Amino acid sequence: MAQKELSSSSITDGLATSFIGQKVIYHPRLPSTMDVARLEARQRTAEGTVIIAGEQTEGRGRMQRTWLSPSGNIALSIVLYPDIKSLSYLVMIASLAVAHSIETVTGLKTRIKWPNDILIGGKKVCGILIENEVKGNSVNYSIVGIGINVDLKASDITEISGMATSLKEELERSMLRAIIIRHILTEFERFYLLLPDGQSIFKAWQARLETLEKKVMVKSGGDILEGIAESVDESGVLMIRQPDGTLTKVVAGDVTLRHQ
Ligand code: BTN
Repeated sequence: MAQKELSSSSITDGLATSFIGQKVIYHPRLPSTMDVARLEARQRTAEGTVIIAGEQTEGRGRMQRTWLSPSGNIALSIVLYPDIKSLSYLVMIASLAVAHSIETVTGLKTRIKWPNDILIGGKKVCGILIENEVKGNSVNYSIVGIGINVDLKASDITEISGMATSLKEELERSMLRAIIIRHILTEFERFYLLLPDGQSIFKAWQARLETLEKKVMVKSGGDILEGIAESVDESGVLMIRQPDGTLTKVVAGDVTLRHQ
């Protein structure tokens, strides 16, 4: 089945949320949804406004990487104005919303690789990028960017083959992007409305992390750490137990699972 064109109304019509996704701005082609979302946020667009691109020409990922999002995949950014205390939970909310939605719509089992990659069968199907503007103790805005490989033939792309997958590769059929996006927005709002109490969000995120208790290599800034991923705390920090017994906190980084 060929992918149908997305549109704003294919997302908003009958969407059962109170604010997330009630305003959707759709562009068939954009450099990055993050930039349009930032412009909207600076003009104080309604909280929950979603920018969707049919394809991105300059999609970006974490750690200054490029994110491939040709036509047929999901590329969206959500504009939020959270309290500073809620900021660390956005990573957890976004990954839980995507993981739950993929499972509900496709029946495929998902796991989360710390902090927020969504995996199917150990391969990455979704990446999440969060960009915040914070002044002192107040958050001007947060942009949550979500990219899902839906139609991508990851195995044909040298840079990501073996590490990434797509819903089409897993299911051998195309999925309607609008259905997945509507689920994500609904789930995102359900978790977001639990704030400022993040306990249950943290517990659910922790339970889905495939990284814990595994031997890992972590690239963080210029450093490389090897050890056992021992725990995470409620601010999302990962604790690595190194072979000499030292426990090191990792706030941001890239984790590779090592074979035991
Ligand atoms: C990562 O895993 O490195 C994060 C990837 C995030 C990609 C999404 S696609 C929608 C939004 N626009 C972007 O340019 N990036 C994010």
